[in-house]
Amino acid sequence: MHTSDDLLSLTQVTIRYGRVEAVTDASFSVRPGEVVALLGANGAGKTSLLKSISGLVPVAAGDIRLRGSSILKKRPEIVLRSGIAHSPEGRRVVASLTVEENLELTGRASRRRATRADLLSGFEECYELFPRLFERRQQGSGLLSGGEQQMLAIARAIMARPEVMLLDEPSMGLAPIMTQSIYAVLSKRTGTLGEAAIILAEQGASLALTLADTACLLKRGEVVYHGPASELTAEQTVAAYMGTAEERQAGSPASP
Ligand SMILES: Nc1ncnc2c1ncn2[C@@H]1O[C@H](COP(=O)(O)OP(=O)(O)OP(=O)(O)O)[C@@H](O)[C@H]1O
Ligand SMILES: [Mg+2]
Repeated sequence: MHTSDDLLSLTQVTIRYGRVEAVTDASFSVRPGEVVALLGANGAGKTSLLKSISGLVPVAAGDIRLRGSSILKKRPEIVLRSGIAHSPEGRRVVASLTVEENLELTGRASRRRATRADLLSGFEECYELFPRLFERRQQGSGLLSGGEQQMLAIARAIMARPEVMLLDEPSMGLAPIMTQSIYAVLSKRTGTLGEAAIILAEQGASLALTLADTACLLKRGEVVYHGPASELTAEQTVAAYMGTAEERQAGSPASP
């Protein structure tokens, strides 16, 4: 159910790939400026849910509303223009373009008419958060390190000045020190990062929970917890990732 406090709401969302049901009846909502940690083991459905919000995978049943209006069946570029920016799993920067061209691409795609001033103030915000991107701004993005590509993927989402940012596993495949530096930036919560609501999908629960107001825990495509991040217990997380004690005894773990 969408209530008037909600910026974004998912109501009983089901996602299928052929006969595989990846997400079943998932409901949760996001208020303006809130950080939601979307947690779950490998294959729990985090990426599928983020893709359904940004229009990259179809929803088999249920509804997704932004400011009360359904965004189901909207094309990804329309969802971006309506205020939802997606930093995808695996970064997906355009390797053949420079850092700044990647930023410009999203800056333009997210507005009907992007002025030079819009783009320049976007670049400035991104470079202030990620000085490394300023140093590399004329370099081909394919030559960046994994951590730098992740910075670029987040910066691209910032260029859209969105109301909702979808960040899919920003820590994936990165050395701990690089993950720390990216999380240090995310935790600043100034400018766009302060104003936008963020849905932060991570397998690593403890990391995402350091930033989150709210947690949404998935187990095999079902939401098993949605509530204050501070009230999510280690027991609930372990049960979602590894199965309950009874399930483990019965030899059917939720995931390896
Ligand atoms: N394109 C696809 N075709 C078929 N099945 C898919 C496809 N994408 C995902 N799945 C399946 O849907 C389920 C959920 O996958 P999803 O990628 O959403 O999980 P995830 O929580 O993001 O996992 P991870 O932490 O590994 O990124 C899995 O069982 C996965 O195998
Ligand atoms: Mg994923």
